[in-house]
Amino acid sequence: MKTNQYPGFHKLSVQERAAEAAEFSGLTEEELGRLTNPGALSLETANHVIENVIGTYQLPVGVAMNFLINSKEYIVPMVVEEASVVAAASNAAKMAREAGGFTTSYTGNIMIAQVQCIGVANPFFARQIILHHKQEILDIANAKDPVLVKITGGAKDLEVRVVDSQIGPMVVTHLLVDTGDAMGANAVNTMAEAVAPTIEQLTGGTVKLRILSNLADHRLARATAKFTKEAVGGEDVVDGVVAAYAFAAADPYRAATSNKGIMNGIDPVIVATGNDWRGIEAGVHSYCARGGHYTSLTRWEKDANGDLTGSIELPTPVGLVGGATKIHPAAQACVKLLGVTTAAELAQVIAAVGLAQNFAALRALATDGIQKGHMKLHARNLATVAGATEGQLDEVVAKMISAQKISVEYAKEILSSL
Ligand code: MEV
Repeated sequence: MKTNQYPGFHKLSVQERAAEAAEFSGLTEEELGRLTNPGALSLETANHVIENVIGTYQLPVGVAMNFLINSKEYIVPMVVEEASVVAAASNAAKMAREAGGFTTSYTGNIMIAQVQCIGVANPFFARQIILHHKQEILDIANAKDPVLVKITGGAKDLEVRVVDSQIGPMVVTHLLVDTGDAMGANAVNTMAEAVAPTIEQLTGGTVKLRILSNLADHRLARATAKFTKEAVGGEDVVDGVVAAYAFAAADPYRAATSNKGIMNGIDPVIVATGNDWRGIEAGVHSYCARGGHYTSLTRWEKDANGDLTGSIELPTPVGLVGGATKIHPAAQACVKLLGVTTAAELAQVIAAVGLAQNFAALRALATDGIQKGHMKLHARNLATVAGATEGQLDEVVAKMISAQKISVEYAKEILSSL
């Protein structure tokens, strides 16, 4: 396969799809085997990843097709248990392609480490004292990680905030660290611990917490896409998506669900690539509440031509070196399948996939409703459970849908009458 546009890809067998995806991405047979054979993560390796290991746990790996991001084609591996997600992402990417696909940008691999200092009598004065000693503090942080400093420059800047709290004002120092292609938790936490005594000396206060922030708002990925009114099914659909977005923008109850739909696209890529999905979730939701009102992560607008334009901006504490990405053999294979070589590229792909997933959900909600597509996939799953073979599936599903009886029992009844 030379392109990620492959009509009828979903109709191939699992083995055929795997072979096509491997050819597109240049996966070796051994690398592909880590995804197609169970047990890629050995018990021995698993035992080194967490504590009290008793086994491993498998989830499906699907691939989203059609993604064109900054003129590069991607096959996107998605590890997820929810039906419809992969199909919806692929469809949305196909529609975006009619107007050129996704365009993305990135603010850099900058993570924040927070140092909390309490008991400071004159916090605003202390804040400035810390800033006067910026270079000294950065030098102490950087002395902890000469390798990182060589690659990225390491700790590059400071921000100091006075945060009001129940126990009085706190002086909170942010170390801004370029963690390169690593997510960087270890590096920044070590630096935060190293600068703590100096901050105590400078302020006369007591340092308590020294830990990264998942609200990584110096590590933002952005993506935009245009969906022509023809591609989405007319100007009414464009208006429907804009109205659906307006609901999420105004109402936290709806924003939570709309953003969940965005994470339906993002989390599966995070999991596939061995990244920390709790970290990105925490970052996204806190970013959505930064204005004091929880709102939509995306924005949808109609342009002067009547086409739909979407944009997304999110913190992306993700990496390609260290952590599970390096340990899990299937995660390594997924990174190669995705074809990203830097954390920056991964972050931008995630942004594009989140935007695509949100578009697919809003379009479905604004037109047929979500159940139609869901029910078809649900019926397919139940028919498989009932024992339908590949050749019987379409017929069994069609009969279940037309009778509006979606159950394993009814699928069995149909199968016995074939
Ligand atoms: C379901 O997993 C996700 C949706 O609820 C998202 C949305 O409502 O926008 C369909």
